[in-house]
Amino acid sequence: MDVLYVLEEEKAIVEQALARCLPASDVHPRRIHEAIRYATLGGGKRLRPIIVRAAAGALGHDPDLVTKAACAVECVHCSSLVLDDLPSMDDAPTRRGRPSTHRQFDVATAILAAHDLLMHAVGLVVENGIDVASGQRALAKAIRELSAAVGAGGMVGGQHVDLEVAGDSAVDPETLEYIQSRKTASLFVAAARGGAILLGADEARLEPLSDYARCLGLAYQIVDDLLDAEGDPETVGKETGKDAGRITFVTVHGSATAKDAAAGFVRTAHEALDRLDGETRMLREIADFCLSRSH
Ligand code: IPE
Ligand code: IPE
Ligand code: MG
Ligand code: MG
Ligand code: MG
Repeated sequence: MDVLYVLEEEKAIVEQALARCLPASDVHPRRIHEAIRYATLGGGKRLRPIIVRAAAGALGHDPDLVTKAACAVECVHCSSLVLDDLPSMDDAPTRRGRPSTHRQFDVATAILAAHDLLMHAVGLVVENGIDVASGQRALAKAIRELSAAVGAGGMVGGQHVDLEVAGDSAVDPETLEYIQSRKTASLFVAAARGGAILLGADEARLEPLSDYARCLGLAYQIVDDLLDAEGDPETVGKETGKDAGRITFVTVHGSATAKDAAAGFVRTAHEALDRLDGETRMLREIADFCLSRSH
């Protein structure tokens, strides 16, 4: 399998679906609709939605059955990027090689677009559940999964602590683990489980998917931290060197330890897949790609 080719194909499928499932930009009020589309379309690796589709494939289903759920996860992710870039958070001027959403529009419009994307995600999960005739329990479970991944027990909590400790010279290992697992790995877990839940997967099959995604998410954030320290802003598509003075795996442990840790988490992600009865090749390729990525 030429993984880069497959990932490009998957990305194209997700992007076409996203363009279709978002409101058009000429709808009144135009500016907010333009901002929603700007924040979501044009750039991005689409890794989380690709994981949603790959998890369905691993369980023997047609990945197209969960493309709306995949788009939902990407909407949540894009919402988080808009908020993360705000002046009150990371104050990032660029994202995906373009001005960040609040720079292209304004802060108020960016905040509203992020809220729309979160709610839009819930609507897409519901639509997907109706399309594939998920039972009420499965649909409720998928929505709860996504809301828990986003809320204060997940991404919001991780982002909060990430900002709270900014400027501290050190944190204990548990706090660093908390930040990385909540702000990033939570959504990876929801991606791996959400579509699978809509398709009726039981806990025995969800459990290895959860472990895989959690380890992958942790590796993914460490690689993101490495790219901030060592990457080229043109290639990465966002300003680098922004984590100096922040608490990240790299600023706490140094690059060499961070690289070993990321590789270790990817190894553990593979071990989790050994426990999954299914065709796990695509999920494994995604894990390896996450480690070797340069953007
Ligand atoms: C950036 O995520 C934020 C993190 C949680 C590391 P990605 O690197 O997946 O961003 P895009 O979607 O490809 O732009
Ligand atoms: C953000 O982590 C994680 C999110 C939930 C958005 P970062 O702040 O490191 O992400 P980038 O580097 O801005 O993409
Ligand atoms: Mg941040
Ligand atoms: Mg940031
Ligand atoms: Mg970063």
